[in-house]
Amino acid sequence: MKAVMVKEGVYWVGAIDWNLRNFHGYMTQRGSTYNAYLIIDEKITLIDNVKHDFYNEMIERIASIIDPSKIDYVVQNHVEMDHSSSLPMFLNACPNATILTSPNGEKGLRHHFKKDWNFRVVKSNETISLGKRSLTFVHTPMVHWPDNMVSYCPEEKILFSNDAFGQHIASSERFDDEYPVNIILEEARKYYGNIVLPYGEQVQKALAIASGLDFDTICNSHGIIWRKHVREILAEYVKWSSNEAKEKAVIIYDTMWDSTKKMAMAVREAFEELDIPVHMMFLQSNHISDIMTELIEAKYICVGSPTLNNGILPSVAAFLTYMKGLAPKNRVGLAFGSYGWGGQSVGIVENILKECGFEILPSIKLQYVPSGEDLNKITENLIDKLEK
Ligand code: FEO
Repeated sequence: MKAVMVKEGVYWVGAIDWNLRNFHGYMTQRGSTYNAYLIIDEKITLIDNVKHDFYNEMIERIASIIDPSKIDYVVQNHVEMDHSSSLPMFLNACPNATILTSPNGEKGLRHHFKKDWNFRVVKSNETISLGKRSLTFVHTPMVHWPDNMVSYCPEEKILFSNDAFGQHIASSERFDDEYPVNIILEEARKYYGNIVLPYGEQVQKALAIASGLDFDTICNSHGIIWRKHVREILAEYVKWSSNEAKEKAVIIYDTMWDSTKKMAMAVREAFEELDIPVHMMFLQSNHISDIMTELIEAKYICVGSPTLNNGILPSVAAFLTYMKGLAPKNRVGLAFGSYGWGGQSVGIVENILKECGFEILPSIKLQYVPSGEDLNKITENLIDKLEK
């Protein structure tokens, strides 16, 4: 396996995970990559690492350029094991290498691996010389773990951004001018919605720092490297991190005997009448991680569940738990659902939407099977509320 040159003396030496379909609950239909980068200079430096199953692939790619035992520095921008779990094997082969990491990076790596490796903790904005090149480290805590940092090489105009700006895409293409950009942006949106969304404020701080750096290439740790569409992905991050929602509704629902489904269609009708774009997401056909991609820019989040055993359907509960954790902000919520006798589901959904901090539209609840007249009323009443 070969390394891929990013710029003269800088190589991609990562691994391609063609089979990954579940990344802690996030469905990764296109697989992923674990990107690691090799800089050949007076101090030979490896930036990031790969998941342990892919150690041999990384080492083969490194060995196509240089004897891996010659590596002086390993920059560990992030502790999470998709970027660190090869370290024990790597440091057996390369025992004199020094790990450059943030203070929380050192703590996290010690907790994970229980090893007394050669750590050198770097401060935020500290620069080290590699010879002709240098690396400046910028701590970016909680984008998306406390240990995160990015590394910047001014001589090559490269930002090594780790998870930020990543996408879960497995491909033999490495660069954004070799792969359909609409797919890269869509996967970047999914990645943001499922991993980074809770940390908008921290992302904005990191973007402010990035705006002061001169780079033309973003070497991230998953998926495709940005070199042609750098401005576009930065602009998308500015938008997503500000929780800028547009006039769009996502209607998420499950149903037992189609009554809640009929109500979902009546809710949809109201948005369509007002020319507000709608996206229907039936929980038996859509994965919760794909729903997050859809709702990242949607102002209206409508959630429907019938009552089951005095509660809500498990599919709706799973979605609400997932969405609440990812904490979208500045949204308007609507709860709806049918019931037979207890009728608790709508109140439960509404409470969770309130706990998310959403502004709430009056909830909609109907017993047993809605009539045509009931459905028309749902549409008319909702139009009325939305127009106010
Ligand atoms: Fe790709 Fe937070 O690890």
